[in-house]
Amino acid sequence: MTRQHWSSRTVFILAAVGSAVGLGNVWRFPYLAGKYGGGAFLIPYLIALVVVGIPLLMLEFAVGQKMQQGAIGSFKKLNPNFASLGIFAIFSAFIIASYYAVVMAWCLLYFLASFGVKWSGDAESFFFKDVLQITEGVDKLGGINFPILFSLLLVWVAIYFCVWKGTKSVGKVVIYTVPLPLILMALLLIRGVTLSGFLDGWVFYLNPKWSALADPQVWTAAFTQIFFTLSLAFGTMIAYGSYKNSEEDIAKDTWITALLNSAISLFAGFVVFAVLGYMAVQTSTSVEELAASGPGLAFVVFPKALSLMPYPQLFSLLFFLMLLSLGIDSAFSIVEALNAAIVDVWNNWKITKLSLWICLATFIAGIIYSTRAGLYFLDIADHFITNYNGILVAIFQSILVGWVYGAEKLRRYINEVSDWKIGKWWNISIKYFIPIVLTALLATQLSKDLGTPYEGYPAWALNIGWSLVVVPLILFLVLLARDWNKIRDRNPV
Ligand code: PHE
Repeated sequence: MTRQHWSSRTVFILAAVGSAVGLGNVWRFPYLAGKYGGGAFLIPYLIALVVVGIPLLMLEFAVGQKMQQGAIGSFKKLNPNFASLGIFAIFSAFIIASYYAVVMAWCLLYFLASFGVKWSGDAESFFFKDVLQITEGVDKLGGINFPILFSLLLVWVAIYFCVWKGTKSVGKVVIYTVPLPLILMALLLIRGVTLSGFLDGWVFYLNPKWSALADPQVWTAAFTQIFFTLSLAFGTMIAYGSYKNSEEDIAKDTWITALLNSAISLFAGFVVFAVLGYMAVQTSTSVEELAASGPGLAFVVFPKALSLMPYPQLFSLLFFLMLLSLGIDSAFSIVEALNAAIVDVWNNWKITKLSLWICLATFIAGIIYSTRAGLYFLDIADHFITNYNGILVAIFQSILVGWVYGAEKLRRYINEVSDWKIGKWWNISIKYFIPIVLTALLATQLSKDLGTPYEGYPAWALNIGWSLVVVPLILFLVLLARDWNKIRDRNPV
């Protein structure tokens, strides 16, 4: 079977930007900026973007494009012992997809509730009691929450129809789902800057609190955000690169994708903080207090702010439609990571059938997050997958390219096909900088998690989180060692 390809370069860029720009830009980025130093957060964020984000994104596009395979096949071609690193990456992608779709399911429920702005009385209790029907703790599962499960099913049906014909259907969908949320965001910005108090919000957003830079947690947050936001280390960008023709440009596409993504994050910050500034005036609270709500930002604080505006239904509908359209192209890009990786192994499978099985399996895995204790499980899975699996895969893939395959070899290929040539700095980044910085990051996170149990969850629940990291890691290391021995036995020294 011949491999599918993007219909044009624009479609590829739209798909890559669509994957990168997601809930992470509108919900995660602003709350991190608010929590970790306002304008000062931009410094570690931009450093992480340039020193780790862009080199790794370039690596992933290049590996996929050169090898014309998904994560498993590409790593195997780089070095036959490393196929199992691909399994590590797509296992993590599978877990992310399983909970990312659940957050979209919440968005869908909010979208429907927007018609009556149902949270206007008490937004917090609407989220926790009405939508999540949350139990007191992770040990009380509380049974399935059927509205969430049903909404999740709808989300998966939508995702399936985006990916069912591979690049052909994805290519048609991204033409709408990438610009649409940006238009909605612009409308919300116009609304925001015509409200009183928006400037207070912006001042808080941009005002740098320099002392934050001394806190290692701020740096860890910035680096993990770069991973999450650029969809790195989960096989997604490798898959998207593999649908390009092997002689297409890489360097320029990388810069365009990365810069557009960060520009959209900054832009989203202006929207979010304009509205928070308004809310602060209306409710006589400080922007700081509102921004400190953390993950509750998109589902508690922001909806509350929307309910205080004139025409609350309209702006709530726009906001949740924006989140849904932002999220869907990220969600299906993760499915594509699985699709691309698996089709290389079973290449007699039809894309339509394979996508169906993947969507079904990921939907089933998401049932756990649709229980009344779902939020706790989601929080745990997200914590471990983003802080450990992403970083570990990135370290190994940099070592694989930098030391085993040869950074220079890949750089030469990138320069052969690209208009903008990249210098030797890239090799240094891949060989030394990324593995060292990421290992330091991993050690910081590990010592924190071993010292204090994450969010005070009971040990058994955290052990589930640890097993999401340790099981694929050990599997990878065992397979690596086995294949290594096989090769050594075949070529005795
Ligand atoms: N980049 C997406 C976002 O910011 C999330 C994502 C992570 C997508 C990993 C694909 C792979 O929302």
